Amino acid sequence: MTPVASEVRLRDGRVALLRAASPEDAPQLVTFLRTLARESWRKLGNPPSHFDTLTDEAEAAVITTYARAPRGFLLTAWVEEEAVGSLTLSARPQKLNAHCADLGMGILCKVHRQGLGAALVRHALAEGERVGLWNVSLRVRAHNAPAIALYESQGFIRIGTLRAVAEIDGAFEDEHVYQRIPAGR
Ligand SMILES: CC(C)(COP(=O)(O)OP(=O)(O)OC[C@H]1O[C@@H](n2cnc3c(N)ncnc32)[C@H](O)[C@@H]1OP(=O)(O)O)[C@@H](O)C(=O)NCCC(=O)NCCS
Repeated sequence: MTPVASEVRLRDGRVALLRAASPEDAPQLVTFLRTLARESWRKLGNPPSHFDTLTDEAEAAVITTYARAPRGFLLTAWVEEEAVGSLTLSARPQKLNAHCADLGMGILCKVHRQGLGAALVRHALAEGERVGLWNVSLRVRAHNAPAIALYESQGFIRIGTLRAVAEIDGAFEDEHVYQRIPAGR
């Protein structure tokens, strides 16, 4: 689906545009993903080398898949026409899980602590609820204090901890499972 666009004022006064990605954004998003991976791969799913072989065409295909999905989406954040953040809300494919989604996100270091992460999460949760995705889960590495603080500030509750699920520099790290269900559900 295509989430509606939204603007958010950052703490430094600049304006960030939150919007769906289109296939023409692929080259910029590949650059963004490579930078994000270099900066933050220990908190994410793949090492930087994973993105060396990512082509613009492959990224355009990912964007198209999200755009054609009936409910999930890829939301991107742009400051001065540079991609600086992204968030995916991936709907579960099974019918009985039709109200459930998984959230993943990342923002470049140069715009951290500007309120962008919180704005992205709030916008994504609102857009998800609009299409019936109200039960949102995520996994976050146990050492990732900034992300944990962000998620808890947005109403996510820690459900438990998965042991030794990410191998980083030869050590196996834990991940917390978080879930958010709106009040009244
Ligand atoms: C986690 C992340 C998305 C936060 O983005 P951000 O734009 O810096 O977050 P915000 O500025 O909106 O901060 C929102 C709240 O999160 C918490 N927070 C964010 N960064 C924090 C930090 N470094 N230390 C402590 N709390 C932090 C605070 O409660 C903050 O509210 P406050 O600024 O009013 O105190 C960003 O650090 C990031 O992309 N990190 C690398 C990738 C990653 O970890 N992705 C998540 C994987 S599960």
